[in-house]
Amino acid sequence: MQITPTTLDSLVSLTKRRGFVFQTSSIYGGLANSYDYGPLGVELLRNIKNLWWQTFIHQREDMVGLDSQILLHPKTWVASGHTTAFNDPLVEDLVTQKRYRADHLIEEWQEKNNQTSETKPEEMNVAGMGSYIEKHKIPSPDGNPVSPPKVFNLLFETSIGAVSGEKSVVYLRGETAQGIFTNFTNIKNSTRIQLPFGVGQIGKSFRNEVTTGQFVFRTLEFEQAEIEYFFDPETEDWQKLFEDWKQAMWTFVTKTLGISEENLRWRRHTDTERSHYSKDTYDLDYKFPFGWKELWGVAYRTNYDLTQHQTHSGESLEAADAENTRRFIPHVIEPAVGINRLFMMVLAEHYWEDSEKSRTVLRLPAQLAPYTVAVFPLARNKPELIAAAKAIYKQLVMEVPTTWDDRSNIGKRYLYQDEAGTPYCVTVDYQTLEDNTVTIRNRDTTEQIRIASDQILKYLKKNS
Ligand code: GLY
Repeated sequence: MQITPTTLDSLVSLTKRRGFVFQTSSIYGGLANSYDYGPLGVELLRNIKNLWWQTFIHQREDMVGLDSQILLHPKTWVASGHTTAFNDPLVEDLVTQKRYRADHLIEEWQEKNNQTSETKPEEMNVAGMGSYIEKHKIPSPDGNPVSPPKVFNLLFETSIGAVSGEKSVVYLRGETAQGIFTNFTNIKNSTRIQLPFGVGQIGKSFRNEVTTGQFVFRTLEFEQAEIEYFFDPETEDWQKLFEDWKQAMWTFVTKTLGISEENLRWRRHTDTERSHYSKDTYDLDYKFPFGWKELWGVAYRTNYDLTQHQTHSGESLEAADAENTRRFIPHVIEPAVGINRLFMMVLAEHYWEDSEKSRTVLRLPAQLAPYTVAVFPLARNKPELIAAAKAIYKQLVMEVPTTWDDRSNIGKRYLYQDEAGTPYCVTVDYQTLEDNTVTIRNRDTTEQIRIASDQILKYLKKNS
């Protein structure tokens, strides 16, 4: 199921109503392009991160993990090229002074005016975007003329030190990757891992970006899951490794996250849009409610980063071949994804308005759902029912993510759990007190069966 832009508003409203996502600092009117993850959202995020970590770190003998700092030595970003080449082309609305991405403005204008066969903004340089905007008199979203595009650096600058004048400039990291490159020798020397091997990291990154209304798709602060897969270019074929990683990404998205193949596509970066460090890049795009957008990139970064850090630090970042006869700077393939984009994709994909039963359902795969099961006593004013249900709840909560609800009537509780994405609801009723059986309701079909209470766990494990 694929939701349309009109139902995006309903999805956003559900995420707030059920505590998946809140606008950051909403009591102060909100902070631009910033969102907080509520009680259910944090569970969904954790489930996505845990599945990524299990798949790409724990279940592979050629991978290890890392958790490096957000603040790195500022020379890191000079060496990596981010202080000069990590830019977005921005235009300014000449009336409101609001800023917009020039490439996004062109893309939206082309879509609106059925000009999608024209040269795409990703094939234009900044001057080309300026001429295109001028030629077609493309206005800002508020209908006003815009300035020619200028490039703005995306790194967030801050400073260390209490005394002004003695402060030194540092940057909030723009990608987690650099912490991996600068730790390359530490990781190689402290583990018994041999090339080819990869290092994975999940962590916050920051980009001073402007965006228009794409919910958590593009935010100032976001969480990346990045892998740098190091190899010897003389013994490994980079194109083969690249294809292997594309396959691993595809399998994770379709099989583990349950995304349908028709909502996914590969797109190769053009020469103009490719990052300064990359020789070849593909994006795995998802059909978001606002169009096809990048979900997960895979880039062949060659030995660009390690070479740059070796030059700027004066430390050798070389490795030896298996026979210890040749020294070289390893090359890398980098699969890099934003966890928040996976989160948004998962919600968009599994959101379902069930018109037949007048309900909204998040049909999340059980391994992603914040709770696997909810336990209810049929009535809240019967101590015997509460006690029996609490005993079942206490047993289940030690084994699977379980929630408890005894408010309002049973129908409302079911509807609440449908919107929370909980695959199963267990209800303890008067028959439970006689024969120790409960009803178990399936979220997607709403069908209920009766089973012995000591069989619930087995049932959940078999059906999740
Ligand atoms: N490391 C790639 C990216 O941040 O997009």
